[in-house]
Amino acid sequence: MAAASGHAVWLNPKMGKYLWWQYGVIYQIYPRSFMDADGDGVGDLRGITNRLDYLAQLRVDAIWLAPIYPSPMNDFGYDVSDYTAIHPMFGTVADFDRMIEAAHARGIRVILDLVPNHTSDDHPWFRESRSSRRSLKRDWYIWHEPAPDGGPPNNWLSEFGGSAWEWDVKTQQYYLHTFHRSQPDLNWRTPDVQEAMLDVMRFWFDRGVDGFRVDVMWHLIKDDQIRNNPLNPDYDGSHPYRRLIPIYQEDRPEVADIVAMMRGVADEYEERTLLGEIYLPIERLVAYYGPDGRGVHLPHNFHLLTEPWEARRLAEVIDAYERALPAGAWPNWVLSNHDFPRIATRVGPEQARVAAMLLLTLRGTPTIYYGDEIGMVDVAIPEESMQDPKAQNMPGFGLGRDGARTPMQWTAGPHAGFSVGAPWLPVADDYARSNVEVNLGADGSMLTLYQRLTTLRRSERALATGSYAAVPAAGDVLSYLREEEGRRFLVALNFGGTRASLAPPGLRLLGEVIESTHPRRRRKTIDGVVELDAHEGVVVRLA
Ligand code: NOJ
Repeated sequence: MAAASGHAVWLNPKMGKYLWWQYGVIYQIYPRSFMDADGDGVGDLRGITNRLDYLAQLRVDAIWLAPIYPSPMNDFGYDVSDYTAIHPMFGTVADFDRMIEAAHARGIRVILDLVPNHTSDDHPWFRESRSSRRSLKRDWYIWHEPAPDGGPPNNWLSEFGGSAWEWDVKTQQYYLHTFHRSQPDLNWRTPDVQEAMLDVMRFWFDRGVDGFRVDVMWHLIKDDQIRNNPLNPDYDGSHPYRRLIPIYQEDRPEVADIVAMMRGVADEYEERTLLGEIYLPIERLVAYYGPDGRGVHLPHNFHLLTEPWEARRLAEVIDAYERALPAGAWPNWVLSNHDFPRIATRVGPEQARVAAMLLLTLRGTPTIYYGDEIGMVDVAIPEESMQDPKAQNMPGFGLGRDGARTPMQWTAGPHAGFSVGAPWLPVADDYARSNVEVNLGADGSMLTLYQRLTTLRRSERALATGSYAAVPAAGDVLSYLREEEGRRFLVALNFGGTRASLAPPGLRLLGEVIESTHPRRRRKTIDGVVELDAHEGVVVRLA
C-alpha cells in the first residue's frame, strides 16, 4: 500500500538518489517545552505549527516529536494510555492534522515517538491484564510468580531505580517494569501485542506521519527464562542500574524479529523511516540495521553524546563506526537529547560551536535537539524540586533530566516568549541574552552558525551524502575529508583551548575557509597548513 502523499515534490533534486532521511537534518522537539499557544504553561501542537517557519529557516528536513499521546505524565508522555489519540494538553486530532499539513507544505517531515516497550498502568490493556490471572490480556504483560522467599522473581533492576518487578496485591503476582512502576512492560512474545502495536504504526502512517523514533528498541524482548543478570565487576557507582550487566534484560537475539516486523510495516508505505533508540556499543548498535535492510533505517547513534569530548577519542569512535556500518547502511549522529545534559552544558559554549560543526559535517543524518541551535544550557534545578521520576527515584546520582527540558527561549519577553502562563519548568536565567530573537541575523550567533551549516549542507552534496575519509591529525585536532563528484571539503576542528595547526603528510592543502566557528576567519586562503584558533572549527573547500 502506498499512501497518497505527493512526497515526490519534496525530493531535493540536488541529492540525487538519496532519500530525505539520508540527506536531511532531523530536529527533535520536546513538545511540552517548545512553544505554548494556549497559555497553560505546557507546549502544544498549535505552538509547534506556529513555529514551523522558524524551523524552515533553520533548514531542517524533519521534526521528531517526543510523545504527544494521552498519558498520566508520570514519565512525561513515555507512559502512554492511548496510542491512537492526542493528549488534550497538546491539542486535538484536528490540530495534529493541521500541523502535519503545515509541516509538509514547508517540506518538513514529521516523525512521532512510538513507545512499544511499555504502556502506562492506566492503559486499558493493562487495567484489563491486571484485573485477573484469567484475563484475556494477562499475557500482554510480563507477569511472574514470586521467588520462593516471596520476593521479586529475579534480580533484574529498573532503569529508574530499584527492582524491575512490582507486586500486584490483587492477583498475587509480580509484573515487570523496566522503567517506572507505572510503566509495565508489554510482552512482545504475545502475537496479539505485536499486531496491536503494528496497527498503531499503520494508524499514524495512514494519517501522513513520515516515521517513528522507536523508544528503547533494544529492550523490547527479555530472556524467556528470566535468568538472573550477572554482577558488574566494573561498577563505578554512577547509576544503580549498572550494578548488574543486563544481558538477560536487553539486546536479546529475538528482538531482530520484532524490528523486522516494524520495518515490514514501514515498507508498506512510501519513504517512511524508523529511528531506533539504542544505547549499545558500536558493534551491537549496527546489528539493528538488520540483515538485508530488514532492520531500522537509523539506529540512533549516541556516541557523540556518551563519549568524552576529546579529539583523539572521537576520531577513533567515528572511524570505528564508519568501519562497522554494514553495506548499504546509512550513518547518523546525535549530540543531545531530552535524557542527558545539553551539549553546551557538557562541553561549554565555545566547544558547543565546534560540536555544531562536527554534527553538521559528518557523514550521516544529524539530529539537532531543540534549543541547542541557540546554545541553550541546562537550567540548574535542585534535585528535590525536579519533576523527573528518575531524579525522584534515584536521588543523589545527578540523573535528573528536567534541566535539559526547559522552555525554548524565543524572546526577551515574559517567560522567554514560550508561554503567557507560568511554564511547567523554569526558564533559564540568561534568556534575555540567549533567545531566538537576539540570535536571528546576528553574524556571530550560534543560530547563524547552525543556519549557515544547514544551508551549506543543503547546497553541497559532498557534505550531505559525500564520502568520508579520516585525515591524520594529532593532539586536540580532529579532521576529515568529505567528497562527492570532484568537490572536496576538509573539516578541521580544534577541541582545545590553545591554537593548533594541521598539515597532514601526503595531502595537498590548497583552498579557502568557507565556514568557521569564528566568523572573522572566514574566506582565509589555505596553502599547505590549516591554522586553527583556540576552539575553532573550519570547513575548507579544497581546490
Ligand atoms: C527513553 C526515553 O527517551 C526516556 O525519556 C524515557 O524515560 C524512557 N525511554 C522510558 O520510556
